[in-house]
Amino acid sequence: MSLSRFSQLLALYGPFGRVVILTEMPSSLAVDARGLTKVFSKGAVRALDGFDIEVPIGQVVGLLGPNGSGKTTAVRILSTILQPDAGSAAIMGFDVQKQASSVRRVIGLAGQYATVDENLTGTENLDMVGHLCHLARGTVKPRALELLEQFGLSDAADRPVSTYSGGMRRRLDLAAALVARPPLLFLDEPTTGLDPQSRLGLWDVIEALVKGGTTVLLTTQYLEEADRLANRVVVIDSGKVIANGTPAELKRDLGATVLELTLADDASATTASEMLKDLSTKVTHVDGNLLELTVEKGPAVAAEALRRLDAADMPLLGLSLHEPSLDDVFLALTGQKTEVDTEALTASTGRKGRKAKETS
Ligand SMILES: Nc1ncnc2c1ncn2[C@@H]1O[C@H](COP(=O)(O)OP(=O)(O)O)[C@@H](O)[C@H]1O
Ligand SMILES: [Mg+2]
Repeated sequence: MSLSRFSQLLALYGPFGRVVILTEMPSSLAVDARGLTKVFSKGAVRALDGFDIEVPIGQVVGLLGPNGSGKTTAVRILSTILQPDAGSAAIMGFDVQKQASSVRRVIGLAGQYATVDENLTGTENLDMVGHLCHLARGTVKPRALELLEQFGLSDAADRPVSTYSGGMRRRLDLAAALVARPPLLFLDEPTTGLDPQSRLGLWDVIEALVKGGTTVLLTTQYLEEADRLANRVVVIDSGKVIANGTPAELKRDLGATVLELTLADDASATTASEMLKDLSTKVTHVDGNLLELTVEKGPAVAAEALRRLDAADMPLLGLSLHEPSLDDVFLALTGQKTEVDTEALTASTGRKGRKAKETS
């Protein structure tokens, strides 16, 4: 063994046999971000506040958080669109600030708002991206046709995108992100605002990509989406990581069953919440006339709750016990439910409002 090889090994194992990290080892992390911080509006908004995330190669990591929690800011920094104020990030080992062009070569980005050109057809959009990505001349057209086929858009290939539904646009946008076959894909709320059927369709497409070996960082406000697609979930709130684990671990940490009681009216639910709060291990939540308690020993606690409500002459309209969902995990961590449905509703009403104005 040469002396330099010996000293390398010594450096690797360090004193007392401790393993230290060998910097030239190829990274098994597709995304490795540390302490990312970003402030907007002259410091008034801390969009990211010491944010860390790791995405191992070949996995799907879900970045889960409510509206305004910093998800898009994180994706924009990781995809070199935005510079962080502090912290660092490596994408496939390339530094986002010092090696931005190398980073751009290994990533694809599809966002919440489809960026495809409305006036071009599906094929024309993908051809354009193929040329922008400098694909070899003869390969642009076949790649476009292959993607249109893969995403169920062959029949609509020669129609302008303006005639596409929301789900079709989102699929085309995702196809556009894949033209250059990036090994790492950032999906920023890929299904927000889509109808349930289009959402399921897009989930199938994403699952197929992952089976094919693509690494994915997916932001979402939908707990079920993270549950279904992600190997690991990072929960973000106000620019900070508040939990990190597999969906199963996050649910297990809550360590309990959720008891849901439907009372006659909102006031009864509030009263019942006071009467029963000693039965709950972590969270009590009132939503209208629905009361949710996180409990150990579900059936015994349910029976005790029934006894107390009965003694107080408070009728129950419904009772259920269920395993905690990621929704319950989020509630336990932040004290609030995600607000995605209201937001999607407002967004679609907003669009309708604008359209009505344009046509009148
Ligand atoms: N360019 C910007 N200028 C000012 N504030 C911004 C800008 N971009 C994002 N923010 C603010 O930063 C916070 C995080 O935003 P964002 O990353 O878009 O959250 P999310 O994607 O989770 O909804 C929000 O308070 C948002 O209003
Ligand atoms: Mg966003």
